[in-house]
Amino acid sequence: MYVHVLGSAAGGGFPQWNCNCPNCAGLRAGRLAARARTQSSIVLSADGENWVLFNASPDIRAQLAAFPPLQPNRAIRDTGICAVVLIDSQIDHATGLLMLREGTRLPVYATAPVHADLSSGLPVLTVLEHYCGTAWHPLPIDGGRFTVPGAEGLVFRSIALASKAPPYSPHRHDPHPGDNIGVLVEDTRSGGRLFYAPGLAAIEPHLQPYLETADCLLVDGTFWSDDEMIRLGIAPKRAREMGHLPQSGPDGMIAALARYRARKVLIHINNTNPILVEDGPERAQLRAAGIEVAHDGMDITL
Ligand code: MLT
Ligand code: MN
Ligand code: ZN
Repeated sequence: MYVHVLGSAAGGGFPQWNCNCPNCAGLRAGRLAARARTQSSIVLSADGENWVLFNASPDIRAQLAAFPPLQPNRAIRDTGICAVVLIDSQIDHATGLLMLREGTRLPVYATAPVHADLSSGLPVLTVLEHYCGTAWHPLPIDGGRFTVPGAEGLVFRSIALASKAPPYSPHRHDPHPGDNIGVLVEDTRSGGRLFYAPGLAAIEPHLQPYLETADCLLVDGTFWSDDEMIRLGIAPKRAREMGHLPQSGPDGMIAALARYRARKVLIHINNTNPILVEDGPERAQLRAAGIEVAHDGMDITL
C-alpha cells in the first residue's frame, strides 16, 4: 500500500495566514529549521493508480498539483481519486470537496453524524448537488469492514473514537459516536496495515486491537502541550477540549505510543507546535521515542 501525505498541518496550515506565533513568524523570516505545511489530508492506493482520498482540505488544489499520480490523462477530464473518506466534518477536512465540483458524481464515505453536519452546519454536500453531486456511503462506527469500488486490494475498517465535532455541529458539546473516526486500512496482498486517526483525544480501550495490529500509526500530532494556545495568548482553548491528545507529559501521546510495535508518525500538526522545529528539543524528544513527524509529500509504503 502506498500512503502519500498531501497535507500534514492542522486547520490553518503552517504558517497560518494571520499568525505571528514563534513558529509562523520564524518560518516566514527564514529563521527556523522547519517546512511549510498544507492542511490535513492523505491519499492511499494499492496499485499506485487508483487512490482513496482521506479528507479534502481547503489546500487540495495545490496538493493535487504537487502529486502527479492524482492527475492521469486517460480522458479529456480525469482523476486518480476514486472516492473520498471523511474522518470528521471539520473545515480543514471537508471544504476541499467544493474544489472537486467539476468532476463526476463523487463517492463520499462518511458516518451519519458527519454527513448530517455537511448537509446542515457546513452544507458542502448540499451545495455540491448543484455541481457534480455526491454519492454517500455510510461508514461503520463499530470497526465494521468496507471496501471502495476502484480501490481493489484495500480493505477498510472504521471505528468511532473520542475527539471533537466542529463548532457548527449540534454535537460540539454533546459527543455522539461517529462524530470522529479512525480507520484501519489493510493491503490484502502485502498484508500491510495503516491506522489513521488525525483527531484523537484519548487512546480508549476499544482502540487497542487496532493500534496493536497496525504496522504504521498515523495519528494526531496537533499539540505538544494541553495549554499551548493559552500560553501563547492565542485562544483560551485547551488541546484536550479541542479533541486532541497533546504529545508531552505522563498522559500524553509519546507515553501512550510507547507500547506499540508499529512505525509511529504524527500528522495534523498545529502551527503552534514546537515539534515543527526540526532542530528543537521537542523534536529530539520525539526522535528518542522513535516517533516521526509527517511532512507534505511524505511517502509511506506498507
Ligand atoms: C481541529 O481539528 O481541531 C481543527 O484543525 C480546528 C480548525 O480547523 O480550526
Ligand atoms: Mn482539524
Ligand atoms: Zn502560528
